[in-house]
Formats: sequence, C-alpha cells, structure tokens
Amino acid sequence: MPVVVLISGRGSNLQAILDAGIAVQAVVSNVAGAGGLEVAARRGIATRVVPHRDHATREAFEAVLMREIDAFSPRLVVHAGFMRIVTAGYVERYRWRSLNIHPSLLPSFTGLHTHERALAAGVKLHGCTVHFVTEELDGGPIVIQAAVPVLANDTAESLSNRVLRQEHVIYPRAIRWFLEDRLVIANGKVGVKGNDAQYLLSDRV
Ligand code: GRF
Repeated sequence: MPVVVLISGRGSNLQAILDAGIAVQAVVSNVAGAGGLEVAARRGIATRVVPHRDHATREAFEAVLMREIDAFSPRLVVHAGFMRIVTAGYVERYRWRSLNIHPSLLPSFTGLHTHERALAAGVKLHGCTVHFVTEELDGGPIVIQAAVPVLANDTAESLSNRVLRQEHVIYPRAIRWFLEDRLVIANGKVGVKGNDAQYLLSDRV
C-alpha cells in the first residue's frame, strides 16, 4: 500500500514519518536539492524531482507531477512541506487520499508566515493541523491538531521549533489512521474509528 510523499524543503516531517515506520514508496520534490531528497536517498527510497519552474502553468507542472506520482500507484499522497498551491484537477485526482500538514491551528492563519502572524496576533495557543487536501487552501477537513503554548519571550523561530516537534508526532499518527482505514468523513468532518483523540495538548516548552 504505497505512500508517496511530496516535499519542497528540509524534510523533517518526512524523516518523522519514516522514523515512525511508515512505508514510503517514493519522495517527489518540486525543488532540486531539497534536503528531504537526501533523507529519502539515504534510506534507499526512490526520489523524483519535478521543478515547477520548468513549466509555464500550474496545470503543465501538475501533469508531470501527477504522472510521477501515479507511476507508484499510491494509496495515499502526503504533502510534507510541499509548498505549491494545487489546482482543482489535482485535488480531484487525489480526493480523500491526500493529506497536508499546516503549521497553525486551522482555520486560523492559513497561508504563509504562520508563526510570525500568531505572535503578532497575541494568541496564547498555536499549533499545527493535519487535514485532507481540498480546493480550499489549508481548508480541508481536519484529521488531527496539536496545540502548544505561546510564551512571552517567543520568537518566530522558537515558536516554530515548538510547533514542529508536534508536527512530527501528529503527522505519522494521521497517516497511520488513514492506512488502517480508520478515518471516517461525514458532513465535512473527520472522525477516527475507535475514538482515538484527534488532538494533542503539549505544554512542553
Ligand atoms: C513544516 O512546518 C510544515 O508544516 C510546513 O512547512 C514545514 C516543512 O518542514 N508546511 P519540513 O520540510 O518537513 O522540515
């Protein structure tokens, strides 16, 4: 039951997914030289690079991307720091079999620079969210969230490190639920068979 992971950067979430023992068939990056490609190569996992800059349109980029993904016939496509906005055609192809992780407690702070914006807003809890990929940017049904405290002396970096540690906990958990067929989607909401907690509260600082 292959999993294909899409990345754009250092690949710490990919590393956490692999460390959790999830069998990843291939890693595809839109950025040549992304650190995550090394992480995959070290473990003998197939890697592919599809540079978005080589294509004039999102559709042209995605046509090649989807061909590379589909060559592995994945059951699940995992966006792990994959920094591209996808089109409706892509979403349709992988509907209910594509997950994303976002570094905020959605629906707050969709898009970029979430940690800076959380600090600017003065929120006292921040965190991360795993959700299904839909047409709405960072807006798909939520699988699991982790909350962390925001401290008075936090910088975007210290806060992002605290959130990232929780990303590494909740993403493998969500993927495992998916692969075990335990996720149930009803009325745009996601439940887990067996009622495992779909949240995590970390007061580790
Ligand atoms: C993570 O914070 C993820 O939530 C965001 O991009 C970052 C990727 O980090 N979308 P990594 O490449 O997994 O280390």
